Amino acid sequence: MEFSEVIKNRYSVRSYKPVPVEDEKIKEILEAARLAPTACNLQPFKFVVIHTAGKEEELKRVYRGSWFSKAPVIICACAIPIAKTDALPSKNWVRTDGNVYSFLDSAIAVDHLVLAATDLGLGTCWVGAFDVKAARELLKLPDDIEPVIFIPLGYPDDKPGVKHRKPIEELVRYEHY
Ligand SMILES: Cc1cc2nc3c(=O)[nH]c(=O)nc-3n(C[C@H](O)[C@H](O)[C@H](O)COP(=O)(O)O)c2cc1C
Repeated sequence: MEFSEVIKNRYSVRSYKPVPVEDEKIKEILEAARLAPTACNLQPFKFVVIHTAGKEEELKRVYRGSWFSKAPVIICACAIPIAKTDALPSKNWVRTDGNVYSFLDSAIAVDHLVLAATDLGLGTCWVGAFDVKAARELLKLPDDIEPVIFIPLGYPDDKPGVKHRKPIEELVRYEHY
């Protein structure tokens, strides 16, 4: 698929066919995430791949949408937080004003993943409105690892709607705000 087509074709898929996703495709998608740029090349994230079969009830606690647990695969991007002590170097980049970039780095990698999935004919949806406690329990996350976003992955069983976006003039300023 042409890159411009990938960008146009991606949409939030909220219905998935009960068809497994090939392991090769999952690997290709994860490789796209691995190649993403990160601040200082610190790559401060982990991806947890969940095969949903048999985990539907736990997944319903993580996110209420019934379509969520019906995706055959769900990938959770997790950020590695600040671990800067005198003994340990920082595992992610912190701006001079204290802004931590691990969520941003994770989002860039996830966008690579999502676009790679689109290119392979797979559907995805960014899911940020999840229950953090339930997610921590399901994934057995260590205390210092932060779940950022869940991405259900599977073959779409719905059709894209109209894209509602602000006009470009509202989003862009030239030379100053
Ligand atoms: C960071 C982020 C979090 C989101 N969280 C949710 C969510 O929890 N549930 C959901 O149904 N959609 C979620 N979405 C999808 C957005 O609603 C969707 O991207 C937006 O409405 C534009 O539609 P489109 O993706 O089909 O172009 C999220 C999107 C992003 C980027």
